[in-house]
Amino acid sequence: MALQERASLLILLLIFVTLSRVCDSRPQPPARYVSSTSATGSAASPTSKRASDVASEVAGYADVAKRIIELAVSGTAQNRSYRRLAEFTDAIGSRVSGSHSLDMAIKYMYNAMTQDGLDVHLEPVKIPHWVRGKESADMIWPRNKSLAVLGLGSSVGTPPEGIEAEVLVVCSFEELKRRAGEAAGKIVVFNQPFVSYEETVAYRAFGASEAAKVGAVASLIRSVTPFSINSPHTGWQVYEGGVKRIPTACITVEDAELMWRMAQRGQKIVVRLTMGAKTLPDADSFNTVAEIRGWQYPDQVVLLSGHLDSWDVGQGAMDDGGGAVISWEALSLIKDLGLHPRRTLRAVLWTAEEQGGVGAQQYYNLHKVNISNFDLVMESDLGTFTPVALQFTGSDKAKKVMEEVVKLLAPINTTKLETNGEGTDISPWIQAGVPGASLHVADSRYFWFHHSEGDTMTVQDPGDMDLCSALWAVVAYVVADLQDMLPR
Ligand SMILES: *[C@@H]1O[C@H](CO)[C@@H](O)[C@H](O)[C@H]1NC(C)=O
Ligand SMILES: *[C@@H]1O[C@H](CO)[C@@H](O)[C@H](O)[C@H]1NC(C)=O
Ligand SMILES: *[C@@H]1O[C@H](CO)[C@@H](O)[C@H](O)[C@H]1NC(C)=O
Ligand SMILES: *[C@@H]1O[C@H](CO)[C@@H](O)[C@H](O)[C@H]1NC(C)=O
Ligand SMILES: [Zn+2]
Repeated sequence: MALQERASLLILLLIFVTLSRVCDSRPQPPARYVSSTSATGSAASPTSKRASDVASEVAGYADVAKRIIELAVSGTAQNRSYRRLAEFTDAIGSRVSGSHSLDMAIKYMYNAMTQDGLDVHLEPVKIPHWVRGKESADMIWPRNKSLAVLGLGSSVGTPPEGIEAEVLVVCSFEELKRRAGEAAGKIVVFNQPFVSYEETVAYRAFGASEAAKVGAVASLIRSVTPFSINSPHTGWQVYEGGVKRIPTACITVEDAELMWRMAQRGQKIVVRLTMGAKTLPDADSFNTVAEIRGWQYPDQVVLLSGHLDSWDVGQGAMDDGGGAVISWEALSLIKDLGLHPRRTLRAVLWTAEEQGGVGAQQYYNLHKVNISNFDLVMESDLGTFTPVALQFTGSDKAKKVMEEVVKLLAPINTTKLETNGEGTDISPWIQAGVPGASLHVADSRYFWFHHSEGDTMTVQDPGDMDLCSALWAVVAYVVADLQDMLPR
């Protein structure tokens, strides 16, 4: 997840403006022969279908759900999600928008999913190409200390010799406003406490422009994380139109607090920041799309997704290699069991999510003409740790159906349906009224590693990934195979 980009960026901006005014295995017969409710002979019109009919229709999938779960959790597909993710990230590494490694990642997935027997194609997208370049930050007064730093995506660079300036440390936008008179010519250090990602990310996203408005020459933002071992966390930031663009980077929680303590003692602090960051012309990229075609309604789609791009630090295992791999794996599990859903299952591995959901937005613009054929859109981008529940946004009628679907997940203890299905990349569909689902995992450690060198395979667990893939596959398959699309 970049920052619930775009849609939520706008929301954040609104909130911020408001706040700142106040401060394979056994071949099986196709499901249509197994399912208790076959395609044959239902005279009832879809709209007249009673809730109890849907409940019994969904309950008819208990056996097939159990087989999907067994294959993933204890069968021949055990640990496959983890193994696939490890092979992928070990081979490719990080893959930031515009990079050669992102191109390699797309080729890798195209080949791997094709070899897996899926129907794969690529859809072209133009994506941002920001490069970090060489960067460093040093405190040079009152003592010499190097500061761990990561420039923020879209930031301009400094002159080659760097920017050397006195520091103004503030803990909030409100404090910056109050002390605006002290900011001219300085580097503003934001030492905002971590409240929640959604709330605190405003500092990363908008800190540079707020500092520039009061005359600062650069801004350093405390990393948006609840836990740190001196790890800087990068991410996208947004320059406000008409405001001077100043260089901006994240520093560690430790160094932000250090400078804050020094400032509280009245000590003068001087920092030298050097950043070689620059933005190159947009690059060519692709959303990677793999399908199992529906036998009855091939134009109707259940979409499962995660993003293939990452930041240029760590390995992008958690954000969002995991989400991309379980979306692929869900299709593999269904294929391995020889299941053929009525509707098409489509796994989409988005490009350039971290730059504002760029690949997904273009996909929406292109495909919204067929919006009435999108049954359910799913996204996993908050980690593939132990699954806790399915999050869902849709009409009350659709919720009733989904409540029945999650009951099929009893063998893995994830029968809870929560509200607020969400995700940067599926939000355009959800806002346009398409039912949306996301994966709620035990994510308390997600933001420890997010957008940092710590995002590697070491944070992933094979058993947890099996559970995530099983959940993803059962939900997608059953929804895609029900007689009717989810009610809007
Ligand atoms: C899956 O991984 C676990 C360790 O995480 C191991 O105990 C188990 O044997 C593995 N299973 C397979 C089929 O590789
Ligand atoms: C920091 O290091 C530089 C170069 O090594 C030295 O000239 C300067 O005196 C040091 N500053 C402090 C405050 O110790
Ligand atoms: C829309 O759906 C039709 C089939 O119903 C398909 O032929 C067409 O390619 C789709 N268009 C897009 C942009 O996805
Ligand atoms: C689900 O819960 C039951 C009972 O609490 C437990 O025995 C079982 O191991 C759990 N299964 C999983 C996959 O967590
Ligand atoms: Zn992500």
